[in-house]
Order: sequence, then structure tokens, then C-alpha cells
Amino acid sequence: MRQNFAYLFILLATISMINAIPLDKRATAFVACNNAANPSVLTVTINPDPPTAGASLTINASGTATNPITQGATINAVFIDANNNILGQASIQDFCSQAGISCPVQPGQTFTIPPIMITAPASLTNTALGVNVADTNSNPVACAVARFT
Ligand SMILES: *[C@@H]1O[C@H](CO)[C@@H](O)[C@H](O)[C@H]1NC(C)=O
Repeated sequence: MRQNFAYLFILLATISMINAIPLDKRATAFVACNNAANPSVLTVTINPDPPTAGASLTINASGTATNPITQGATINAVFIDANNNILGQASIQDFCSQAGISCPVQPGQTFTIPPIMITAPASLTNTALGVNVADTNSNPVACAVARFT
């Protein structure tokens, strides 16, 4: 009987380890951008996650304004290399004309950006994916970045 319990325990431990491995591999972590403008942190999800090298991915982003976001703001997504060089084609779109967004977005108001399509670089090693909302002076007001090793 005691042996059966030990077996069951090991089996359960094994199952939970098997579950943990793909979870870790799957979730790309988006964190705050290191920027002097101190932008708020966007919540970002991507599909597929992790991205496929050389293939397109969809980016969803949402956030909360800390300062008013006004006409002329842009929503940007870009892959960069370790030296901050842009890889491939950045996605740069007008923020205020996105479906479901009406500017100005006031401090404390949340916003959700319709899905953005971008193509991942041929190799993801040592790249980062940055997503930001920038004001008319190109300063990020909301931002998040994921690094790929
Ligand atoms: C992105 O949002 C759309 C709805 O606008 C949803 O259908 C899709 O599942 C979302 N994708 C991710 C990766 O969160």
C-alpha cells in the first residue's frame, strides 16, 4: 500500500513536470521598456507564441494611458537586433484611427489595439520585439519589449 502511494506521487510529479515544460517554452515575456520617457507597460500577447522565425505573427496589445494620447500618436511594432538596428519591416500605424480607439485617450483610460501583423526575422536569436504607442514627438507613452535568446 505504501509503495502504491509512492508510485502515485512520482507519477503525479512527472505529469506536472511534463505540463510545466511546454508552458515555459510557450510564453513570451513582455516587460517594461528601458526608456527615459518612462512609458506605461503595454500588455502584449502574440500568436504564434513563441514566434516562428521568418514567418508572420499577430500582436495584440492593450494598456492604460498615463498621459493623454492625442491625434498623431502612432502604434509601432518592430524587431530589433542586439545593437538596436531594425530587422525587416517595422509596423507603423496611426494610433487614433484604429478600430475601437477614440482620441484623446485620457489618463487612466484603457485601450486595446486591433491585431498587428509583423514578420519575424529569419533568426530570432538575440533579437527583441518592441511594441509601443508613441506621441507626435516619437516618445513612447506606452511600451513593452520581449527578448529572444
Ligand atoms: C487577439 O485578439 C483577437 C480579437 O481581436 C483574438 O481573436 C485573438 O485570439 C487574440 N490573439 C492573441 C494572441 O491574444
